[in-house]
Amino acid sequence: MSLDNIHKLKLDLGDKAYDIIIGSGVLDHAGSYLKQLLKRPRTVIITDENVASVQLPRLEASLKVENIEFETLILPAGEPTKSFSQLEYLLGKLLEMRLERSDMIIAFGGGVIGDLAGFAASIYLRGIDFIQIPTTLLAQVDSSVGGKTGINSSWGKNLIGAFHQPRLVLCDVLCLETLEPRHVISGYAEAVKYAFINDREFFNDLDQNIGDLNHIDLKVRCAFRSKIILKSCAAKANIVSQDEKEKNLRALLNLGHTFGHALEAELGYSDRLYHGEAVALGTEIAFALSQHLGFSSEKDSLLVKAHHQKAGLRSANEFSFDAQKLIHHMQRDKKMSDGQITFVLSRGIGKAFLYSGVDMSDIETILNRFFKI
Ligand code: GLY
Repeated sequence: MSLDNIHKLKLDLGDKAYDIIIGSGVLDHAGSYLKQLLKRPRTVIITDENVASVQLPRLEASLKVENIEFETLILPAGEPTKSFSQLEYLLGKLLEMRLERSDMIIAFGGGVIGDLAGFAASIYLRGIDFIQIPTTLLAQVDSSVGGKTGINSSWGKNLIGAFHQPRLVLCDVLCLETLEPRHVISGYAEAVKYAFINDREFFNDLDQNIGDLNHIDLKVRCAFRSKIILKSCAAKANIVSQDEKEKNLRALLNLGHTFGHALEAELGYSDRLYHGEAVALGTEIAFALSQHLGFSSEKDSLLVKAHHQKAGLRSANEFSFDAQKLIHHMQRDKKMSDGQITFVLSRGIGKAFLYSGVDMSDIETILNRFFKI
């Protein structure tokens, strides 16, 4: 592995600080990174069937080189795995393996595995360490960093969970090579989100170079993907280090999520709309609402939409939603406070802010206009 291609960032959280390592081929050195953190050479890999079939041999080989003993738990792939029943199964297996409090587990997969394994780590023996090796772009630019873990329930997505920081995050862009392009594009929505929040220059760069995301040349696409992971993780690390438990600033990272979660919930979290695709549409709605309330211009709303289209994200014209049903889902969101939803709105690209007190009639107007029902 050439060190030129490897970037290292620190998420500065005092005694919970950790490194985020980004580049091509990082996975093949996972064992040597992990060894420095282990008290005894033993670990458990938690992954899913899809990742196991294409990426697991590389991780296992890197552990064997370092003489680290391991067991592997392979769960079904997909959002339904983030459930009470899989959590119970996982905890049972860890107990059966007699994993000790000073041991560490590896969450090896996308956001579902990261959230579930991280939550299991947060409650197993009242909390053990874990590391994140995210294998999707969405997990590499967002969910593996910052310590949000949890599961879904019949009451909604991510309502049960804990803040539990990993000890290390390893992002290997070569893991993205086995993903279908739609998955990569969906994850990209969470990267450009950081530009929309507070980095206009990053947006200009992305808008000019978006063609490199799925470029035919491996070197070009890997370099572009490494760059956006690095920029996204640095932006996220900066925010999380100031507001780990989402008391205020961190809520900006939810740009597009209140609307996006409602769209996903209405479609039953199905493959009709991936999470990143929902966030992209949610971001467009947030800009439409900001424009309607007089905070941002039509030009900004059009730029956001045009950029999403260039990236290959979904368009609102493909869907039709009942505004009342979406509002109902939004009211079950955990971001409610005193019965009010806090929205992430915008004064223009790179100028997001938090705002409570939006009238539900304005939301209904915007949703009806957006989906042209
Ligand atoms: N995905 C938003 C956050 O981690 O705060």
